[in-house]
Amino acid sequence: MVTITKMTLDDLNNIKDILISDFDDFWNYSIFKSELESPNSYYIVIKNNSKIIGFAGIKLCPPDCDIMNIVIKKDFRNQGYGLLLLKELIKLSKSFDVQNIFLDVNEKNLPAISLYNKLGFKKISARKNYYKENNAIIMKLDLSQKQ
Ligand SMILES: CC(C)(COP(=O)(O)OP(=O)(O)OC[C@H]1O[C@@H](n2cnc3c(N)ncnc32)[C@H](O)[C@@H]1OP(=O)(O)O)[C@@H](O)C(=O)NCCC(=O)NCCS
Repeated sequence: MVTITKMTLDDLNNIKDILISDFDDFWNYSIFKSELESPNSYYIVIKNNSKIIGFAGIKLCPPDCDIMNIVIKKDFRNQGYGLLLLKELIKLSKSFDVQNIFLDVNEKNLPAISLYNKLGFKKISARKNYYKENNAIIMKLDLSQKQ
């Protein structure tokens, strides 16, 4: 059974030792922990039979928010779970009356860009060499036009 719930510190502790190997997350544990505890942040986890297979989070900056992270466990990619998580983040943002969702993504990260495009995010600008030699693409989803 697949469930999506608010992420807790226990959830993070459960995946602490496999963050890099199984999720290739770009944050270390302590940065992630402080993000999770930040009052402006909201993280969710997706579980398959109670096992965490992905997580994602937003930082609220009313009337906007930023997607901080969205990662699916390597063995579970390409099975629709990323789409489910992103849809849930959008629903969550709407519940906080967010007008625009922003994110930045490495221009070489085609799976993520394709996922964001699929749910209506549009490229609005770019930042040169944001990720070492790669540029970042800044994308936005305008929720005010989707009501
Ligand atoms: C990006 C990521 C979250 C997608 O999750 P996922 O569960 O594999 O994606 P889904 O199976 O739900 O696919 C949804 C859509 O994403 C896109 N997508 C996913 N994997 C893709 C791939 N390998 N190549 C191209 N498009 C891809 C497609 O548009 C897909 O829709 P489709 O199946 O109708 O073609 C996952 O690849 C991941 O965890 N990557 C590493 C972390 C990361 O880069 N996060 C984004 C940081 S900005």
